[in-house]
Amino acid sequence: MLLLRTREELLAWRAGSPAGSPVAFVPTMGYLHEGHLALLRHGRALAGAGSLVLSIFVNPTQFGPKEDLARYPRDEAGDLAKAEACGVDVAFCPTDPAVLYPNGTHTWVEVEGLDRHLCGATRPGHFRGVCTVVAKLWGLVRPDYALFGEKDYQQLAILRRMHADLNLVGEVVGLPIVREADGLAMSSRNSNLDPRARQDALAISRYLQELRIRFTAGERTAAGLLQDPAAALAPGRVDYASLVDAEDLQPARVVTRPALVAIAAFFGGVRLIDNCVLHP
Ligand code: PAF
Repeated sequence: MLLLRTREELLAWRAGSPAGSPVAFVPTMGYLHEGHLALLRHGRALAGAGSLVLSIFVNPTQFGPKEDLARYPRDEAGDLAKAEACGVDVAFCPTDPAVLYPNGTHTWVEVEGLDRHLCGATRPGHFRGVCTVVAKLWGLVRPDYALFGEKDYQQLAILRRMHADLNLVGEVVGLPIVREADGLAMSSRNSNLDPRARQDALAISRYLQELRIRFTAGERTAAGLLQDPAAALAPGRVDYASLVDAEDLQPARVVTRPALVAIAAFFGGVRLIDNCVLHP
């Protein structure tokens, strides 16, 4: 596995990679868990005899000033061992934000509309940071496939739009949420939960499970499906609990088309997200 640190190294590797040989790309912020590893394994299969590229970069521009950039978990050595075991060919791990943001940055990528609700509303500027860094990485890696998890459903929808609107090469591939045995959606941030908060956080997947049961029983209204999220997620603090159209991510009052239930809540100061899609 090649470990590359600079833009120049990555550009030189890409220029030398054989024409017509597929490149699969998994961009991450590191602290790899089973969700990331599922993306890497799928990327390995898609790339075949071609190359699997992983990036690890905790992107400062997608964190707000009061968010957890400084506390974001990191373990580069552990990540590289896991990457190697998944058959990664190239790990791009800049050690300095200036590698991707030389001399400050003056070009931003923003997808309008899809960011109006959910994380876009409660984390202003977050998706602008995500789109900007992914666009930069896309230009360097020029992947045939770029893989993202559906836990970040809104991120995936926004990146699909960016990919289409900017005529980027290759395709965006989304993979289902990977959960712990007890239902908690895998997230690098889970490592910041203390044992009490880890236990309390199970309320999210339980809430989604109960909501799905109400949906299967015929409930179709947002009010009837969501009921009282503050009580259901207590002692967690709800950031949002919303029902939106699964395609345009605008609020839905009744489920008549595929709809997304998206949850964000804080447990012991750690913000977690989870979701499920309802198909009428
Ligand atoms: O999902 C993530 O880990 C990040 O938002 C991404 C896509 C790697 C951009 O920094």
